[in-house]
Amino acid sequence: MNIPEFWAKDPIMRLVDPRSPEDESPVYQLTPNLVGKFIDFREDPTILRRLHREHAVACALRREGVSVPFPLGIFQVELPVQFPYGSGPGSKYPAFVMEYIEGPTLYKGIIHPSEKFDLVQSLADKELTKARRLGFIPFDLGASNVIWSEVQQKVYLIDFYRWKRKTSSAGISK
Ligand SMILES: Nc1ncnc2c1ncn2[C@@H]1O[C@H](COP(=O)(O)OP(=O)(O)OP(=O)(O)O)[C@@H](O)[C@H]1O
Ligand SMILES: [Mg+2]
Repeated sequence: MNIPEFWAKDPIMRLVDPRSPEDESPVYQLTPNLVGKFIDFREDPTILRRLHREHAVACALRREGVSVPFPLGIFQVELPVQFPYGSGPGSKYPAFVMEYIEGPTLYKGIIHPSEKFDLVQSLADKELTKARRLGFIPFDLGASNVIWSEVQQKVYLIDFYRWKRKTSSAGISK
């Protein structure tokens, strides 16, 4: 499969959510408005299928009015940093590139218990209810998969790799 290359004039390349270098899916900010989600392919030879799957679910959700970051597509991205599982600096890796949403996740950065936490949680629940009505079967509804944009006063759902969708013939998409 031919994957287009991602190019930006002044790439940022900052880990959005610094976790252990061994993390499965590091997310890098690529430009002021875009992030790329990478997957550790040491563990998962089906990485491309997985990235495309997450992108497809994000596109369907967005198209049908659920609040998710704008999904740009799958691109080969050159990382000027040593990627934990890469062959060295300057290597290219496939990534799911999407809109960067500035703000805390419900898990980090929003004090619990608080009115703000309750507000963000209830807005996230509304988006999830919308998704379920559309036939999606969410997975991993952890608070780290909800981003709160203070500027837009809006929640965004992320992380759809394991989501499924009921098909019209009563089956469930794989
Ligand atoms: N579009 C985005 N804008 C801003 N931050 C993001 C965005 N997507 C992801 N992040 C940050 O990166 C973190 C990890 O992203 P995500 O939840 O998609 O990966 P993961 O939980 O490691 O994925 P998986 O369950 O597929 O292995 C999020 O909790 C969030 O902090
Ligand atoms: Mg997650």
